[in-house]
Amino acid sequence: MGARTCLTIVLAAGEGTRMRSRLPKVLHQVGGQTLLAHVLAAARAADSERLAVVVGPGREDVAAEVKRLAPDAAIAVQSERRGTAHAVLAARKTIAQGADDILVAFADTPLIRPQTLDRMRAALAEGAAVVVLGFRPRDPSGYGRLVMDGTALSAIREEKDASEAERAITLCNAGLMALAGGSALSLLDKIGCGNAKREFYLTDVVALARADGLRTAVIEAEEDEVRGINTKAQLAEAEAALQQRLRRAALEAGVTMIAPETVYLSADTAFGEDVVVEPYVVFGPGVRVGDRAVIHAFSHLAGAQVGEEASIGPYARLRPGTVVGRGARVGNFVELKAAVIEAGAKANHLSYIGDGRVGEGANIGAGTIFCNYDGARKHHTDVGKGAFIGSNSALVAPVTIGDGAYVGSGSVITDDVPADALALGRVKQVVKEGWAQRLRNLKGAGKNST
Ligand code: UD1
Ligand code: CA
Repeated sequence: MGARTCLTIVLAAGEGTRMRSRLPKVLHQVGGQTLLAHVLAAARAADSERLAVVVGPGREDVAAEVKRLAPDAAIAVQSERRGTAHAVLAARKTIAQGADDILVAFADTPLIRPQTLDRMRAALAEGAAVVVLGFRPRDPSGYGRLVMDGTALSAIREEKDASEAERAITLCNAGLMALAGGSALSLLDKIGCGNAKREFYLTDVVALARADGLRTAVIEAEEDEVRGINTKAQLAEAEAALQQRLRRAALEAGVTMIAPETVYLSADTAFGEDVVVEPYVVFGPGVRVGDRAVIHAFSHLAGAQVGEEASIGPYARLRPGTVVGRGARVGNFVELKAAVIEAGAKANHLSYIGDGRVGEGANIGAGTIFCNYDGARKHHTDVGKGAFIGSNSALVAPVTIGDGAYVGSGSVITDDVPADALALGRVKQVVKEGWAQRLRNLKGAGKNST
């Protein structure tokens, strides 16, 4: 947006009682991120270099999330809920520092796209003092109506204050607004509370701007982009709309998905070139998948990095801190947690690899368990390059298996194994010739005796 400076004010003071949750509404998640995180990310992507978030009194949890996501953002507290304009003015100090463009966004409207914020900023750059985001909802009830005067916007009427004729208007206020920095504070300060709800309505800024001879404009958006969230049902609807958007973006970026409608993505899921994702895969937050990797059906990944040409699943679980190297193979019913699987290593069946490293080209046999937890603390297991761990072994951490070493099947390994050695940690096999036949003979004798 050229050299124009921008401040985005995010209203996050809603208590969200209709969510029926202890968690404040804006800390609920869609696409693996909080509602608040989505809105802040959109503002950032629209080049808003300054951010202010208005939170409710005592909302330390919301303030903490703001600090985590945007340490530079100003946090303003709205001490009582007295309307959207009152909420915006809680950030008065930040507004007074000046910005060419001021965007007002609601934290419970997470699907807003940066391109739309860009369009609103462009309308300010063309000379509008107030830009409203409009949409045409399937059901307009509850929304403020945009009252037009030809092509100009003359006022926004809240439903409770609207006449019958005004209620028939289908173009509604999505809630987002862009204000020219030069006139914003003087307009906001003129807003009163003479309405049905006795609240200070941000929407009154439109009629006030017009009365001052300032220009107003409307930008239209799709309903999916501006759906607000008040209930768990609406949260689920927003999730569905977001998943559609993320799947489409992944397909457009070249990911092959046989059944995209069964794949669940996070907003930050990152794919390389020619990745294949089979049906029923869930990507939690923080996953990166390298070029030509294949994620087979029914796998669950979160906080994990998958290297080029690696093969994951079917039915694999990759937990946070996992890094799978180039061409490595992680097969069915294998769980990885904070595990580094180096290039070309294999863990093809039924294993738990937690807090460990598996060196390049090493083979982890079926049923191998990294016993990382002693009931009090977690410990590390290190398996060297080219090592071979026989099936059904337990590696009791902390323990190191040297490069090229072998561990015999069914071993419980509690001591380090030097490079190129063979370790056997199991009872030696005993064979008793003819024993089974003798047992059968005994049983037979028993039956005859009755
Ligand atoms: C608002 C708009 C309405 C629009 C609708 C879109 C106003 C007056 N009305 O109505 O035109 O169609 O959004 O969804 O702006 N908030 C505070 N502090 C307050 C009041 C509200 O932080 O004192 C926050 C809420 O948490 C919420 C947002 O502002 O995120 C909107 O407030 P809400 O009361 O839901 O407004 P609506 O009646 O939905
Ligand atoms: Ca609302």
